[in-house]
Amino acid sequence: MQVPTILVVDDEPLIRWSLSARLTAEGYRVLEADTAAQALERQREGVDLVLLDYRLPDADGLAVLQRIKEADPDTLVILLTAYSSVEAAVEAMKRGAYHYANKPFNLDEIVLLVRKALETTELRREIRALRATQAQPYGLERIVGESEAIANVRALLRKIASSPASTVLLTGESGTGKDLAAKVLHYTSQRAGKPFMNVTCSALPETLLESELFGHERGAFTGADRQKRGLFETADGGTVFLDEIGEIVPALQAKLLRFLEEKTFKRVGGAADIRVDVRVVAATNRKLEEEVRQGRFREDLYYRLNVLTITLPPLRERARDIPLLLKYYVDSFNTEFKKRVQGIAADALERLQAYAWPGNIRELRNAVERAMILGEGKLLTSADFPMLAGGRARLTETVELPAHGINLDELERSLVVQALDRCGWNQTRAAALLGLNRDQIRYRIEKFKLERVPS
Ligand SMILES: Nc1ncnc2c1ncn2[C@@H]1O[C@H](COP(=O)(O)OP(=O)(O)OP(=O)(O)O)[C@@H](O)[C@H]1O
Ligand SMILES: [Mg+2]
Repeated sequence: MQVPTILVVDDEPLIRWSLSARLTAEGYRVLEADTAAQALERQREGVDLVLLDYRLPDADGLAVLQRIKEADPDTLVILLTAYSSVEAAVEAMKRGAYHYANKPFNLDEIVLLVRKALETTELRREIRALRATQAQPYGLERIVGESEAIANVRALLRKIASSPASTVLLTGESGTGKDLAAKVLHYTSQRAGKPFMNVTCSALPETLLESELFGHERGAFTGADRQKRGLFETADGGTVFLDEIGEIVPALQAKLLRFLEEKTFKRVGGAADIRVDVRVVAATNRKLEEEVRQGRFREDLYYRLNVLTITLPPLRERARDIPLLLKYYVDSFNTEFKKRVQGIAADALERLQAYAWPGNIRELRNAVERAMILGEGKLLTSADFPMLAGGRARLTETVELPAHGINLDELERSLVVQALDRCGWNQTRAAALLGLNRDQIRYRIEKFKLERVPS
């Protein structure tokens, strides 16, 4: 802890001097003030505790006490009163004073009081710091975006988090935020104080996955030399996140369905039914309906899972969130890498907004991370985002001139029309898709006499 700072407020120089000398000798940093105005002024320098004279030339002690508390509720105040007036003392405590001392006071007594008071502040700070670290690391605000699609996702998460719903399905392409949504769902729910357990279904062979989820009895299979509790038991009261649910084999699908319906299960090799209270959040980037149609995923399990479904939208369908997310990650990497990147150059921003982001937010995050590690300017530019060039480079490799040739003018016209249509005739974004600037696309719109056809 830093050396605590004590502000001594009294209009009598002798009292200030004696308090100041003693407290300095005790190792504190001491500031002085002889009026209320000066006291409030000096409080701004950062003060842990104030020794405040009840009678000041320019204001009464209670009023000053109130102002000090308003400026910083954490500042402790010990009121020094010349008359032992019970009413004044009571009033002072009511207004938030830590304690009071009667003048003439004994310096040892004051030192003791100060020490105790500062222990309180220290404790309070520790508690707050603890709370802050335990406070939901995954609040709804972690889901960045202003588009309607993402606002809907947040609204659904909020509702479901506070509901008793025990099963939730998260769908969406890779990198759209299913993991994040699962954590937000857990940490904003009543279950937040209980475990959040995460298992990636595709990462384990089927038998291991089963015992991972349900646990096993001793001797249940070779190598099971002791009883083991599964995730569902460990997470009792909390949430189990089953990632990549589309990957589990039919036999396990049946067991999972039974668990979701009855809330009970048996350990592998066990006979007893075990009952737990967990919310199961399942995620998949596969189209489960399709898996059902193909016979790879049980229909009944699909219906059981699909009661409350949140679909995370792909980034390309919410392009207006792209600048926000870019800013969010520039800020967070500035902090992490101790950098001072100010933002993204306008033309790069346009192109990033028009880019399709096949890897969604994960790709965006990684792109910003890379750009911030390697980039050198205050602004990130297109050159810092290789995928902007990459997309087009690949194109030049794959577009091969047909043997019978083409009409270049027609091809150009067709591409401009496609770009405009794809971007709802937003010229800036269409231009970015073609690697042009706005003047260049306007020139072509005029050249080809293109007009928007109302749909
Ligand atoms: N709306 C959002 N705002 C800010 N960051 C986000 C948002 N959505 C996702 N992210 C971040 O993007 C990255 C990828 O998200 P996440 O891991 O949740 O994707 P996923 O859908 O689980 O992908 P996969 O299917 O590949 O497992 C993470 O770093 C996550 O924190
Ligand atoms: Mg994931």
